[in-house]
Amino acid sequence: MIVRVILAMHDAGLQKRLAKALSRPGLLVESLVEKGHAWDNVLRRNGDVIVISQSLIPEPIEGSVYLLNQLPDTPTTVVVSESDSPDEHARLLAASCDTVLYAGLPERRLIDAIEATIETRQQLLRHDLGGRRVVSKPQLSDFVSESTTMRMFMQLVERVVPSNSSLMILGETGVGKERLARAIHAESPRSSGPFVAVNCAALPEQLLESELFGHEEGSFTGATRSRRGAFEMADGGTIFLDEIGELPLHLQAKLLRVLQDYEVRPVGSEKAFEVDVRVMAASNRDLTAEMDQGRFRRDLYYRLGVVTLTVPPLRERREDIPALVQDYIDYLRPKIGREVYTIREGALTALCNYDWPGNVRELLNIVERAMLLCEGDEITVDSLPAGVQETGSASPEAQLVPDQAPAAWKALTLGQVMENILPRVEKAYLQMILEETAGKVGEAAKRAGIHQRGLYNKMRTYGLRKEDFRQGGQA
Ligand SMILES: Nc1ncnc2c1ncn2[C@@H]1O[C@H](COP(=O)(O)OP(=O)(O)OP(=O)(O)O)[C@@H](O)[C@H]1O
Ligand SMILES: [Mg+2]
Repeated sequence: MIVRVILAMHDAGLQKRLAKALSRPGLLVESLVEKGHAWDNVLRRNGDVIVISQSLIPEPIEGSVYLLNQLPDTPTTVVVSESDSPDEHARLLAASCDTVLYAGLPERRLIDAIEATIETRQQLLRHDLGGRRVVSKPQLSDFVSESTTMRMFMQLVERVVPSNSSLMILGETGVGKERLARAIHAESPRSSGPFVAVNCAALPEQLLESELFGHEEGSFTGATRSRRGAFEMADGGTIFLDEIGELPLHLQAKLLRVLQDYEVRPVGSEKAFEVDVRVMAASNRDLTAEMDQGRFRRDLYYRLGVVTLTVPPLRERREDIPALVQDYIDYLRPKIGREVYTIREGALTALCNYDWPGNVRELLNIVERAMLLCEGDEITVDSLPAGVQETGSASPEAQLVPDQAPAAWKALTLGQVMENILPRVEKAYLQMILEETAGKVGEAAKRAGIHQRGLYNKMRTYGLRKEDFRQGGQA
C-alpha cells in the first residue's frame, strides 16, 4: 500500500523542502498550498500521515484533532509547533496529536522524525492488511490434484508463482479462479504485500474508474473527498481484476496505459505516480470471441496474458471429486456442528458422474446441503438433489473417458494418455464385476473372460479385496 502524506505547513519554504526530502516510491506526498483554506482542505483529503503547522489548526485544538481522528483513514497527525515549551507540547499530545515537533529543530532532525513516523505508519498498514489476509489464505497445496489433468495444470502454476509477470486466469464459473489467484499471491515473493480484488462487473463505469485508479476531491458530482484506488492500495502486492471481460473499452485503454509504465493517475488529478503491482486478471468469458467482436482490446489481452492459466472444469478432472468431497466434509463438520464423517459409495458415484456446470462451487454447495439433510453420519444418495441422483445410475466407466479430449492431453503422447486412462478403466471394470459377483473371484474371472490367477494379480495391483464386496451390490 502506498502511504499518503499530507503537508500543510505555515512556512512555504519548509513545506517545499520537506516534500522534496520525502519524495520516493511508496510515498505519495501532497502539499496543500492555499493557506486560507488549509484546514478545510486537510479535512477533505485522504491521508495516512498529516504533517501540519500548529498555527493552521483552529482552536480549541482538542475539537480539531478529534475531527482529524474521525477521518476515514484515521491519519497519524504530526503537529509542528512554533513553541518549544514542554507544557504546550503536553497540551497537544493530550489533545490526541500523535507526534509533536518543535519547528525550531535543525531541519535534518525534523525530517528524520517525520520519516520515523511514516515508517511506523507503513508497518501498521502492512500489519493491518496482513491480519485481514489470514482470514482466507489458500495455499497451492490445498488444491486437490489426484487427476492427471489437475496435476499437469498445477505444475504449470508452480512455474509462474515466483515471477512478476501478469497472469490471465480463465475458466468456467466456480472452478476456483479467484482462489487460485490468492494462492499464487500467497506463495509469491509479494506475499507480504496486499492482495486487492476488484470485480469489474460489479460497478457502474464511473465508480469503477475511481475504484481502480482513485479520484481527487471534486472530480465528479458526489466526489466530496479524495479516495484511493485499488492500484494504489495494491502497491507492493497483487491486484486481481475479476471479470475483466466486463471492463468498458475506455477503461481498457486506461488500464493498458497503466500496464505499460506502471503509473497511475487518479480521476481528476494532474499528477501520476508510480505503483509496484503484479496484475492478475480473470474471466469466465471467451475473450477470443470478445476480441473478434471488438469488445475486448487485443493489445490489452496480450499485455495481461503474458501467461494464461485455464483452470480445468470439474468434469475434466472427476478423479479429484472424492478427495474434494472428503476434505470439505472434514472442513465443514465442526463449522455446522453435524456429525457427518463420510459419504456412501453410491452417493459418491452419483457425484462423480454428474456434469457440474457450476464446478467446485456447485459441488461444495451440494455437499453442504447433503450434510445438513442426511440422517446418519454418512451422506447418502437421497440427501443429494434429484438432478444429481439421476446421473448416479450412469455406468462409471462411461464417465471415465470424456467425450472430448481434455486440453491437458495436448501435451501428452498417445502412450502417456493410455497409461493414464487404461488402469482406471480396468479398475472400474473389476470393481463393478466384483460387486456384481459379491466378491466371488472365480465367477468374476469367468465373467471377465480372464484367468482367476490373473484376476487376483490385478486385484492386488489396484488394492481391491474380495472381502469388501461380500455384501454385494452398491450401497
Ligand atoms: N480446489 C478447491 N478446493 C476447495 N475449494 C475450492 C477449490 N476451488 C474452488 N473452491 C471454492 O469454490 C468456490 C468458488 O471458487 P472461486 O470463487 O475461486 O471461483 P471462480 O472461478 O472465481 O468463480 P466465478 O467465475 O463464478 O467468479 C469458492 O468458495 C472456493 O473457495
Ligand atoms: Mg470469481
